[in-house]
Amino acid sequence: MKTKSIISVLSSTFFIVLLTISCSSSNDDDLNPDPDPDPDPGEEVTYVDDVQPIIQSNCLSCHSDPPQNNAPMHLTTYNAVKQAVENRGLLTRINSTSSPMPPTGRMSQANRNIIEEWVDQGFIED
Ligand code: HEC
Repeated sequence: MKTKSIISVLSSTFFIVLLTISCSSSNDDDLNPDPDPDPDPGEEVTYVDDVQPIIQSNCLSCHSDPPQNNAPMHLTTYNAVKQAVENRGLLTRINSTSSPMPPTGRMSQANRNIIEEWVDQGFIED
């Protein structure tokens, strides 16, 4: 019994090896270990890649360092933006219709989603 099943395993293995060799003469790609070159492309939201450019073009005309136009703080660094989310209601203000930031009107839904996503993912810096 045992011997029989070993033989049948061996012969089917041999058959598979034969098939593999004959069907894929140039296919040794599978032998290269490929250490996940780009995990989750486009999934991770970071300050440097995603949030900073939005802040730069929508907020820094006032929230510069030093701040302009009576803005109470600057938003020019990772820490400053994170602080503003945690202590100054940044998310509430960018989504507010009655007192939005920027004061001229809310940014696109896409921009606001990116910032919210960044907060949800735990403030990844870069
Ligand atoms: C035209 C100038 C201007 C722009 C542009 C602007 N702000 Fe402001 N911001 C102000 C002023 C003035 C205040 C203080 C008055 C107030 O709270 O409305 C303020 C207040 C804030 C506050 C509340 C601070 C506190 O301690 O209460 C936050 C948060 C904020 N801004 C975030 C932003 C963000 C984020 C952007 C860009 C998306 C932005 N602002 C764009 C002028 C601006």
